[in-house]
Amino acid sequence: MLPYPSSDASGESVSDPQSATPDKIRIIGGQQLKGTIPISGAKNAALKVMCAALLTDESLYLENMPNTLRDIASQTELLTHLGCTLSAEGDLMAINAKNVNELTAPYEIVRKMRGSILVLGPLLARFGEAKVSLPGGCAIGTRPVDLHIKGLEELGAEINLEGGYINAKAPKGLTGAKITFPKVSVGATENLMMAATLAKGETVLSNAAREPEIADLGECLVKMGAKIEGLGTDTIRIEGVKNLSGAHHSVLPDRIETGTYLIAAGMAGGTLKLQNARIEHLSAVMGLLAQAGMEIDQSGNDIIVHRNGLRLKGIDIMTEPYPGFPTDLQAQFMAMLTLAEGAAMVTENIFENRFMHVPELNRMGADITVQGNSAIIRGVKKLKGAEVMATDLRASVALVLAGLVAEGETVVNRIYHLERGYENIVEKLQGCGAQVEKTA
Ligand code: UD1
Repeated sequence: MLPYPSSDASGESVSDPQSATPDKIRIIGGQQLKGTIPISGAKNAALKVMCAALLTDESLYLENMPNTLRDIASQTELLTHLGCTLSAEGDLMAINAKNVNELTAPYEIVRKMRGSILVLGPLLARFGEAKVSLPGGCAIGTRPVDLHIKGLEELGAEINLEGGYINAKAPKGLTGAKITFPKVSVGATENLMMAATLAKGETVLSNAAREPEIADLGECLVKMGAKIEGLGTDTIRIEGVKNLSGAHHSVLPDRIETGTYLIAAGMAGGTLKLQNARIEHLSAVMGLLAQAGMEIDQSGNDIIVHRNGLRLKGIDIMTEPYPGFPTDLQAQFMAMLTLAEGAAMVTENIFENRFMHVPELNRMGADITVQGNSAIIRGVKKLKGAEVMATDLRASVALVLAGLVAEGETVVNRIYHLERGYENIVEKLQGCGAQVEKTA
């Protein structure tokens, strides 16, 4: 395999608009979508299994990796900085952490992507020490990491915060403990699960998050020799082992990418076949799409989605931890509701500031009013193309979806956000008849 290209090569920050090369997507709305879209490996699982490689001095071989994503490049940059060797070819990646010689995850890398906090648990568990920059706030909310820190302290780590860094030490190793999370957190569950694999004795994580990406990470850890029970439930039991070994693991399909293209078909109309998808990870979304008026079928690992010419109906949604409706599909679903018949309400319960797509959608002719953590959407008959600004990953894609169905031309600025999490989105949509292109 080829050495993985460092994200240094692009020289671009994924979160800092000032330092990014200006780039845009131009869309001429009004084309129905017809064709097949292959679903990529899940970004939010891939980023975590990469960190799992830090737990062993043997090689971890990963398949179905969304290797072209910017977030994967950021995680690669971080692991390389720590001393790992990474190589990638197509959707394969190999990581070896035998020669880790650096235990600090610096601010310059961590600030690009919050997923980098996931090196904390593995580094601490294997090396007894880690220093990781606090990720800080981000566009969708303050996003603290107190649950990660408190959980690691319960495993016996000594942690102090200084100069914007988390300094963690466990010179005699971590010790298993019973940890009850006061709030459901995907990242804290993952960090603690990884740390506990090498702790002495048993760890029980209660009120754990149940997202499929966490179970995927857990399955990878089990292949590496970890002893874990209860994956996919809210109680995860981990019996610590002395060492983990290398393994082969294939990352699960991206349910958020899948849901995004289901909604694209709902908005633009037509028929899409989504290849290599897992319908069972989207049950909350499927029920709501059907309620809104879409037809969805399954054939093996493919999902076929169809909307005839009829207008969709407005329905209320509320984001919740899995298996509830995912916050990462809220912006896209709202974009769809702007054109539905009647009124709808969207309530965001996970992040406090996740309605930044609202003013942009309103500029395209939508009728959305925000009150606290709810938005009221009154369906309009059509959206009109406009120049809009992407503010975060999922908000950006919501604007692309709106552009697909808006009258005339839509230009979405700052598409580097999209490239963090959607592999080949322009090519995938073009392949289904959309008039979409990247422009400088
Ligand atoms: C992950 C996903 C993100 C998704 C989110 C919720 C990745 C890389 N990102 O983010 O796409 O939107 O799950 O499904 O997998 N919280 C605290 N203290 C903590 C940790 C979290 O208060 O220590 C709060 C957060 O601010 C938020 C809520 O808990 O309000 C849920 O966050 P969490 O599940 O931890 O999200 P992430 O793991 O950051």
